[in-house]
Amino acid sequence: MHEFALASLSADFDLAKALGGSRRWLITGSAGFIGSHLLQALLHAGQEVLSLDNFATGYQRNLDDVRRTVGEQAWSRHHFIEGDIVDPSVCRRACEGVDIVLHQAALGSVPRSLEDPLRTHAVNATGFLNMLVAARDAGCQRFVFAASSSTYGDHPGLPKVEERIGNPLSPYAVTKVVDEMYAGVFTRNYRMQTVGLRYFNVFGPRQDPRGAYAAVIPNWANRILHGEPCLINGDGRTTRDFCFIDNVVQANLRAALVPAEGPCHEIFNIAVGEQTTLTQLHDLLVEALRAQVPELKPRPAEYRDFRAGDVRHSLADVAKAHRLLGYVPTHNVREGLRLSMPWYVQAAAGQASEPMSACAPAGANAG
Ligand SMILES: NC(=O)c1ccc[n+]([C@@H]2O[C@H](COP(=O)([O-])OP(=O)(O)OC[C@H]3O[C@@H](n4cnc5c(N)ncnc54)[C@H](O)[C@@H]3O)[C@@H](O)[C@H]2O)c1
Repeated sequence: MHEFALASLSADFDLAKALGGSRRWLITGSAGFIGSHLLQALLHAGQEVLSLDNFATGYQRNLDDVRRTVGEQAWSRHHFIEGDIVDPSVCRRACEGVDIVLHQAALGSVPRSLEDPLRTHAVNATGFLNMLVAARDAGCQRFVFAASSSTYGDHPGLPKVEERIGNPLSPYAVTKVVDEMYAGVFTRNYRMQTVGLRYFNVFGPRQDPRGAYAAVIPNWANRILHGEPCLINGDGRTTRDFCFIDNVVQANLRAALVPAEGPCHEIFNIAVGEQTTLTQLHDLLVEALRAQVPELKPRPAEYRDFRAGDVRHSLADVAKAHRLLGYVPTHNVREGLRLSMPWYVQAAAGQASEPMSACAPAGANAG
């Protein structure tokens, strides 16, 4: 949807320089995977950051990790609010005095949403609307939010282009479609600047390897490291456009800082623009883990039925993000896995004494 003009950024746009001005940021979902990396990047860049989480799927240890990484001086520019975005008063408090919102808080996972659509809706749709209202009332300059490739649903076209979507295949996908619609409506009616980033299967350190709703890369890394076979839903030829976390951080900063005159609403695919089958992913994971643990003896993957709600193929066209945001992915899937695996090896060592039964077979949700 091109509704209003965003000035375009070039690929060599100096993010560090653009971050020179003093702005106050709000990151929701900061104790989670993506939110914690955004927090780290902004604190590294000298910014003042307020962040919000209720630890539904995030962890204090992620915040502690950011603190260790950025150091005490940078950490002193961070203020944390523990609260639930389903409560409008929490959102109001969080948005006070904020210039730019990076809204990440949501309940991820297609299977979770099929099991508990009400809770997914409450957080991802009502919570999202609460955040939009609070950002509008506080006069925040821009509202950047985590949208999702699941919005493409059953649309068969490949690669996925922003304006052609199908029917959503899960309650999770419905909430992400609704979020985009609300953001557009708030731009049109309240003249807000809203930017949705449709992430495609993001991965990297701190993505939770545990639990029934773990994403495919952390789940498989954990299983391989514990000598268990990876369970592939379907024939292994299902594809995804796996996107390393650094690409997502870059996209958020560009979306937040690209100049715009007046109200605007834009949606961007954020991915690498490369397709990987699940069987290829398994091989790449084994390769990346063997580089860390040479004595590793992975068991062959086991194939199971396709899983409800999963899309068959996913591949992003990232031309729009390149053209308007100057977004250029810096890491492909192999490089991202190489950089991520040391964290997973360490995390698995920390869990050595815990039983693995909590780990259900992972699928490859279209995020
Ligand atoms: N990881 C992916 O591949 C992917 C793909 C597409 C979209 N997304 C979206 O990106 C965002 C971040 O995902 P993530 O992978 O970092 O997941 P995550 O589960 O690691 O992080 C989400 C964070 O939101 C917090 N949260 C959940 N409900 C909340 C509530 N009611 N109030 C306050 N905080 C709450 C959680 O505690 C958690 O820390 C989500 O909106 C997700 O839908 C992720």
